[in-house]
Amino acid sequence: MAGKIPNTFIDSLMARVDIVDVIDSRVPLVRKGKEFQACCPFHEEKTPSFTVSPSKQFYHCFGCGAHGTAIGFLMDYANLGFVEAVEELAEGVGLEVPREKAVGHPTQPKESPGRLLGVVDEASNWFQQQLRTHPDAKKAIAYLKGRGLDGRTCAIFGVGFAPDGWDGLLVALGTNDTRTQQLLRAGVVTRRDSGDSRKGREFYDRFRGRIIFPIEDHRGRVVAFGGRILGEGEPKYLNSPETSLFHKGSELYGLHRARRAIGSENRSIVVEGYMDVISLAQFGVENAVATLGTATSRTHLQRLFRLAPEIVFCFDGDRAGRDAAWKAMQVALPEMQDGRQLGFLFLPDGEDPDTIVREEGGEAFRARVNEALPLDKFLFDTLTTQVDMGRMDGKARLVSMARPLINQMPAGALQQMMLDRLSSLTGLSGEQMGKPPQTKVAPRQRLRSQPLEPGQLSPMALAISLLLQNPHLGTKIENPEMLQQLELEGAEHLRQMLQLIKQDEGFNTARLLEHFRDSGVHSYLEKLASYPTSIHSEALHRHFNDTLEKLLAQQDEQRSLHLLEKSRGQGLEGGEKQELLALLDAKKQRIEQVSK
Ligand code: GTP
Ligand code: MN
Repeated sequence: MAGKIPNTFIDSLMARVDIVDVIDSRVPLVRKGKEFQACCPFHEEKTPSFTVSPSKQFYHCFGCGAHGTAIGFLMDYANLGFVEAVEELAEGVGLEVPREKAVGHPTQPKESPGRLLGVVDEASNWFQQQLRTHPDAKKAIAYLKGRGLDGRTCAIFGVGFAPDGWDGLLVALGTNDTRTQQLLRAGVVTRRDSGDSRKGREFYDRFRGRIIFPIEDHRGRVVAFGGRILGEGEPKYLNSPETSLFHKGSELYGLHRARRAIGSENRSIVVEGYMDVISLAQFGVENAVATLGTATSRTHLQRLFRLAPEIVFCFDGDRAGRDAAWKAMQVALPEMQDGRQLGFLFLPDGEDPDTIVREEGGEAFRARVNEALPLDKFLFDTLTTQVDMGRMDGKARLVSMARPLINQMPAGALQQMMLDRLSSLTGLSGEQMGKPPQTKVAPRQRLRSQPLEPGQLSPMALAISLLLQNPHLGTKIENPEMLQQLELEGAEHLRQMLQLIKQDEGFNTARLLEHFRDSGVHSYLEKLASYPTSIHSEALHRHFNDTLEKLLAQQDEQRSLHLLEKSRGQGLEGGEKQELLALLDAKKQRIEQVSK
């Protein structure tokens, strides 16, 4: 199992890679002044607005707003995952990608994901141990047997048991306050609502009296759990909450285990439940994964398409199943480059993959998958049942429903054939229906980010934007002490960037951005990095320091408003009155200075 790629490696990689080489070998660039240009690979255009800056090591398209670093470019252009993009870049400059030890990393100051992973892993082991040794485990084993699961399959999927009671796990693993807090953050322990004044324990086990299915991330590390009640009861399934390790909308149950089979069968199967994945595997159908009680997301599809060119969705044949399939199709359309295939398999009423594979066996299920409806058939069959194809206005309605869907697809043979199909159904020629707006590569960037409008930045965003685009500004700050006092939102990020720049003056925009890739503000920072700040280099330094001054003024303003409000309400205490007077005085001085 490969560990995390160390941040220090990403940083030295970014210092070595030249984004101009990376892009030029795929999209030929032409020099234009200090920058390079090309027609944008992410949208159709005739005059180049795709710009690559060697000094920032950052690309930006003024036409569609796509932007990013060399890593981001490979992820979007070549449809690679982060790790794959890093590996590709490293190979280009002759570096070996190192990996940290998979669990824990003692030198990291804050709680590392590694530590939390360790805690989740311990919980997983504890659940499995309960299934072997707990006095009540007989009930659980009987339930699993009753559902036809053999011991080997349970072991492969790490199935466990959470006994009844409130604190079995807590007592076993929450040996001190720190550990209890970790169990809480890992989502296996719950804290009583603070508004709940009844007596009782503050912390308790989240999973009680349930069969436990560990959920692994795409790298095979346990990050969360699904717990099924034994028999009837509500809720039938209880899942871990979203944690720093677990994001329902992007993980797929069973993906890591299914990887190899997906590769060798050239196809993945998407089902709805844990039990479906496990039963299918027991019957030899090992390329199935399940969404975790959420709709199929674009991230899910991108993950699966990276492993094999075909995805078959397997849903219940009822109304809900049809609706879910339609939604999944809509999400998939922009990903349907030539070479990729979608299938839709609807099971007879009342059946799910778990029940049907048990009745019919693995081979019969495989045969059903082979017979799945292809995308074109599913799309046109569904739409033509909604209109009256015997009437002219019915056919017109078909065009109006189908065109927006087909337009979502990337240009290519498949899209053209879908259009031809629509032509033959309606008798309209392609010209009569109008040409679709062409997109070359699935426009992931544009969907996910609206460009920032000029003039809409707060002083903090402006300061960060200036610093990101001109890291050398960070070496000449006139009033560094004031930065330490800043408490405004974003101040922590500003300080972090300054810290990095202080350590190494070679920092460019891309290197700074990569430090924040996992931070939750990464995409916002990328936007700030491409925000147009057209200021002459001489005036830049002044502008940056003025912006920092504005930050302090803004913070003083917020504080004095707070104190004024308090003085009207509960009244001021201690030194607050002096503080307010000083703040108001400073404000007066600022105003006088401006009007001078
Ligand atoms: P079995 O009855 O054990 O065969 O379950 P199933 O997999 O057939 O369940 P179902 O089709 O009802 O649900 C499919 C998936 O939706 C499950 O695997 C869960 O991920 C999720 N799910 C179902 N019921 C619940 C629930 O009550 N709460 C939550 N959070 N998720 C649920
Ligand atoms: Mn089921």
